[in-house]
Amino acid sequence: MLKSINPSGTQSWKELRNHFGDMEFVQMQKLFEKDSQRAKHMNIKWDEFLLDYSKNKVTSETLSLLFKLAKEVGLQDAIKAMFDGVKINATEGRSVLHTALRNFSDIKSIEIEGEDILLDIKGTRKRIKDFTEKVLNGEYLSATGEKFTDVINIGIGGSDLGPKMVVNALVNYRNNLGVHYISNVDDDYLHSVLKQLNPATTLVLIVSKTFTTQETIENAKRIKSWIERELVGKDFNKHFIGVSASVEEAEKFGLYKDNIYPMWDYVGGRFSLWSAVGLSVSLAVGYDNFEALLKGAYEMDTHFQSTDFESNLPVVMALLSVWYNNFYGYETEAVVPYSQVLEKFPAHLQQMIMESNGKNKDRSGIPVNYQTGTLIWGEVGVSAQHAFFQLFHQGTKVIPIDFIGFVNPFVEGDSSHDILMSNFFGQSEALLKGKAGEVYESDDSIFLSNFREFSGNKPSNTLLISKLTPKNLGALIALYEHKTFVQGVIWNIYSFDQFGVEYGKVLAKNIQNEIKTKNISKHDSSTEFLLDFYLSNRK
Ligand code: F6P
Repeated sequence: MLKSINPSGTQSWKELRNHFGDMEFVQMQKLFEKDSQRAKHMNIKWDEFLLDYSKNKVTSETLSLLFKLAKEVGLQDAIKAMFDGVKINATEGRSVLHTALRNFSDIKSIEIEGEDILLDIKGTRKRIKDFTEKVLNGEYLSATGEKFTDVINIGIGGSDLGPKMVVNALVNYRNNLGVHYISNVDDDYLHSVLKQLNPATTLVLIVSKTFTTQETIENAKRIKSWIERELVGKDFNKHFIGVSASVEEAEKFGLYKDNIYPMWDYVGGRFSLWSAVGLSVSLAVGYDNFEALLKGAYEMDTHFQSTDFESNLPVVMALLSVWYNNFYGYETEAVVPYSQVLEKFPAHLQQMIMESNGKNKDRSGIPVNYQTGTLIWGEVGVSAQHAFFQLFHQGTKVIPIDFIGFVNPFVEGDSSHDILMSNFFGQSEALLKGKAGEVYESDDSIFLSNFREFSGNKPSNTLLISKLTPKNLGALIALYEHKTFVQGVIWNIYSFDQFGVEYGKVLAKNIQNEIKTKNISKHDSSTEFLLDFYLSNRK
């Protein structure tokens, strides 16, 4: 169990509050003027990553108080507890060991209450490898004896967002297999995907930890009948692979036992892409690239566990975010990767961060008296510049931004990469420095000049990574996983349950029944009005 320490009651929090009084109106431009070497003092170089966090509203005093806070809330012990398999997900009575899935050390065992889990993890990795190779080299053929041309991954939330994001990000590492993701219950979309595919050569992965998630099961049923119709009398069940913690439910669906891959209760859905949930990744980019992704995450795990807080990427990024969230009152954070293939990265982070830290009770079950989870959003740069950056530059809200960019493009040589990266560097500079209004040679000069004035002083982190490789992508995802964990520890909340979303599933089921029976029970007047309108107009 993690300790329950109210961060707002700690000495460092009080000191941070006082210190905030000095910092609130400090202009970062002035901090840069005072210290011409600021970026040299405020960066972390690790492996192929560089984090420049100098464009933040912090001084060395702010940082040492934030590190003191991390110590006071017992962060080091919490990190150890997570990696040691202590049941830190106390509300669900579970360990949190997604890190074990990518543990490539020569450790012999990882235990939960005396039981080794590593053997099963390694065995599953081997199964993923073998299956991937068999599908790709044509050893595992469809019911009609053909090579599979396409894969559909059916899953939602963590059973969809992570693998989908990775397959998208590693597009340049992909083979010829078409990989498609179905998450929503939306017949129109399902139809649009199926109409491009041949059921005789489509492999279907049904990914669901519980194997009871309605959206996933409904989609799986529809796709099963689509394949069944085409392959009457043939062994169409071999087209279906299950990934689930509930083998029983998966078998009930008709899956062959040998075609079911495990998920474990010590791995939360939003942290599960490192398990067989990532089977679509392995199929799309080959097992070696999948393993490189895992190894990158493992290296970040090692960095997180063993590096002093001062040089620890996830810790520093988490503390900066706490500083803005809890002292400046900045409620949202933007993540802007300057890489088109990372377009799904913000969506993955949204689930990972907001499902984890969207909590209002502390670890004693008492309502918190401070802000917790930040709101995460973002879009790829440069496109984002032409969409919402205006608000960053001249809006009334301050939104700390993570700029993520790569030194080298996938395709070496002459390319537009330098144009992309010029924007990357230019935006964070402009947000920091701002710009005085221009003077015009006209009667309206003052009036016009006002509109062209940018105050600057907008904070950002810059993450510069050598290249978008599977390994670096794995490390990047793990960086945000650990940042999320650190924040949860500081906010004294349980980051690994999700009762709110689960309640949503119950509500939808009840209403679904009412729609089916056309018998609306007692709701608030708005919901009753809406359901009534829906039923009267539904053809
Ligand atoms: O959205 C809630 C949630 O429980 C997520 O945490 C999870 O990733 C998703 O639903 C899907 O659940 P399952 O993998 O059990 O289908």
